[in-house]
Amino acid sequence: MGIFTSDSDRITRNYFDSLLIETRYIDSAVPDSSLELFGETFRTPIMTAALSHLDGTAPNGMCTYAKGAEIAGALHWVGMGSPAELERIIDTGAKTVKIVKPMEDEDAIFMELEHAEKAGCFAVGMDIDHAFSSDGKHDNVMGIPMKPVTADALKKYIASVKLPFIIKGVTSPIDAIKAKSVGAAGLVVSHHHGMVGYSVPPLMVLPEIVKATGGSIPIFADCGFESGMDIYKALALGAKAVSVGRFLMPFLHEGPDAVATQIQKMDAELRGVMARTGVKDLSSFDPSVIHHTNF
Ligand SMILES: Cc1cc2nc3c(=O)[nH]c(=O)nc-3n(C[C@H](O)[C@H](O)[C@H](O)COP(=O)(O)O)c2cc1C
Repeated sequence: MGIFTSDSDRITRNYFDSLLIETRYIDSAVPDSSLELFGETFRTPIMTAALSHLDGTAPNGMCTYAKGAEIAGALHWVGMGSPAELERIIDTGAKTVKIVKPMEDEDAIFMELEHAEKAGCFAVGMDIDHAFSSDGKHDNVMGIPMKPVTADALKKYIASVKLPFIIKGVTSPIDAIKAKSVGAAGLVVSHHHGMVGYSVPPLMVLPEIVKATGGSIPIFADCGFESGMDIYKALALGAKAVSVGRFLMPFLHEGPDAVATQIQKMDAELRGVMARTGVKDLSSFDPSVIHHTNF
């Protein structure tokens, strides 16, 4: 089990493993896994997840993580952290998505969004699932009070920046439709490593969310990804790209090259499966390649 410890992690892993893949060799070709997103090209659809507070995991962990993404040509995501830390992350050269917390203090939200834009972030967003603590009260994250977001509040946050705004922490078509209607540029299907117990696995709800949003905005996924095979399954089921967080953390103390190597290994495995299933690029995935089992 190791780094994946919640009941939602276990259920998510079981769901990944219940999805089987058929091969399609005839007319297949060497695939291209480069990602086009919001006008930029990345070498891989494998992104880092919006982590935070990694300096206890490895010295300068947040910048090591970012530099690893940059070396791999991957889009980097970052969560909670100071403006100065965000600037150091951007200085690594990593194209970065800043995820802001649903803080009670709305001025602080607007300030963080404005700073992210000025600092040169690629996109911004919010992890809407960090509003409540497990006893149903408003959460408090490291001394900072949170509060649930309303559709009207999201509209204001989205209107306050020119950057694409991504809503993270969606596991229902209902939230997905609301997020799209307030102007989200994308969604992350995520249970935030088990924020709620017995969460639906992201890949189980992903096709419904893709359908509910009509393919009009990119849908990303995270939670429990640890191989190119896992990533293949998400892309086949409609994800535009996928984030990997905890799986990369043990490599942080070895430096950015080790982080990049893990992303590259997963990308190579992804391309291997794409080749053997007749998928020539990221726009050519076919969900019918996936077989759902319950054995
Ligand atoms: C140490 C750590 C810090 C995190 N900090 C944040 C954060 O600040 N903002 C956020 O949106 N998600 C945060 N997350 C959640 C991740 O972005 C991600 O949703 C979750 O870890 C599931 O992906 P994984 O299984 O690949 O780790 C954090 C996760 C970890 C492990």
